[in-house]
Amino acid sequence: MLIRRCAALWLEPREETRFDLDVLLAGGTGVVSSMQWFAHAPQRDEPMDVDAGDVVLLGELSPLDWVAATPLRAHHGTARVRRLLQLGLLVGSTKAWTTQRELDVRMRDMHWHGLSAVCHARSRWDGIDAAGEVEEAGLHNAEGLRQALGVPPPMLHARLDGGACTALPRMPRNAFDQILDARASCRNFDAGKMLPLAQLSQVLERAFAERGRIHGADDFDVLKRTSPSGGALHPTECYLIARDVDGLAAGLYHYRPGEHALQALPLDEEQVLAGAGKHAAAKGMGALDYLAWIAVGGQPYFADAHALCVLAPRFERNFWKYRNHSKAYRVCILDIGHLSQTLLLSATEQGLGSYVTAAINEADIERAFGLTPWIDGPLAVCGIGVRAGDMQTYELDPNHRAWPRKRQVAL
Ligand SMILES: Cc1cc2nc3c(=O)[nH]c(=O)nc-3n(C[C@H](O)[C@H](O)[C@H](O)COP(=O)(O)O)c2cc1C
Repeated sequence: MLIRRCAALWLEPREETRFDLDVLLAGGTGVVSSMQWFAHAPQRDEPMDVDAGDVVLLGELSPLDWVAATPLRAHHGTARVRRLLQLGLLVGSTKAWTTQRELDVRMRDMHWHGLSAVCHARSRWDGIDAAGEVEEAGLHNAEGLRQALGVPPPMLHARLDGGACTALPRMPRNAFDQILDARASCRNFDAGKMLPLAQLSQVLERAFAERGRIHGADDFDVLKRTSPSGGALHPTECYLIARDVDGLAAGLYHYRPGEHALQALPLDEEQVLAGAGKHAAAKGMGALDYLAWIAVGGQPYFADAHALCVLAPRFERNFWKYRNHSKAYRVCILDIGHLSQTLLLSATEQGLGSYVTAAINEADIERAFGLTPWIDGPLAVCGIGVRAGDMQTYELDPNHRAWPRKRQVAL
């Protein structure tokens, strides 16, 4: 048999701390710390405990060149080699290791930059009520943040090494400025109203639809959208959680930019609700409402949106050009920033509320939509909906462009 290392790997030396009563009774602080190695392979959901001997072996092997297994077993021990093969950190050439090898080949063929792949894998959440945690820590408002974290870096920045300032002309404001000024991240949707399909449709068309197409080369067409995209590759897909849209059955959809159409996707209610039991805040929610709530990290004011758009790049489309490229993942994230701003401005133009958030439970979304984190995992969620009559949850609207002054009752 031949062996090589898996495609992408980060070995982390982590300091682990635990409480030990004996140490406390002996006059110490009770806190004991020790070093532990963790192996991060992006195709695996969790980091894996490894020991110093594993690290030496993994550090010896190339991710490209195969070497004979027999001398490795003789030098490092059969049990160690076998355990690392089972974990998928080593890849074996024989039939016994087909499952791990095929997964590794799929990962390899994606052309992820190694560090980006690990960063993407380890920044995912699964079933986290982030809003609940933030509130419990008292960090949900400016006062709490200021008290817990001290003074933030200044709001504005002036260079001390700079020269004279040139005042810039202020131009008269026009309709475009009005749209820009009226955009405010919406945390107050009207649960009693339905979002008309025509309005949702226009927002989706402006943000995601094909606006043109260029034939670059044989079997290589390029999509034109209203937002820019690194390499003109437009890898980002939009998946929809439709909750309260008038004219559209509640459920899951995939937006098809070429046809400007929504394709229904199956909703496995049992699977979606499997993690709901551990959240008191989710008690009594149906599958779709729970999915919306957990998708946005337990933020109830965002879960209320009438439709939620999951933005998920097909990484392969971008990495086809930017192979193992240190900027490629960054470009995918930046693409999503552009798409979301276009979506937000389109919604604002129609008088709708909208938001974007990256505080999302990627794993829950992936399971519901049948996505794979390192193939087409989500990076952000945008919400669209009808604004409520009154502002009950805080929004940043100091100039009263989204809310008339008298409607800001809670503040
Ligand atoms: C990438 C990104 C992630 C965000 N995530 C959250 C979030 O998780 N929760 C939230 O309440 N607002 C979130 N926001 C909204 C910001 O809080 C908001 O943009 C900021 O307060 C400024 O307000 P404005 O959007 O109304 O101008 C996010 C904004 C961006 C751009």
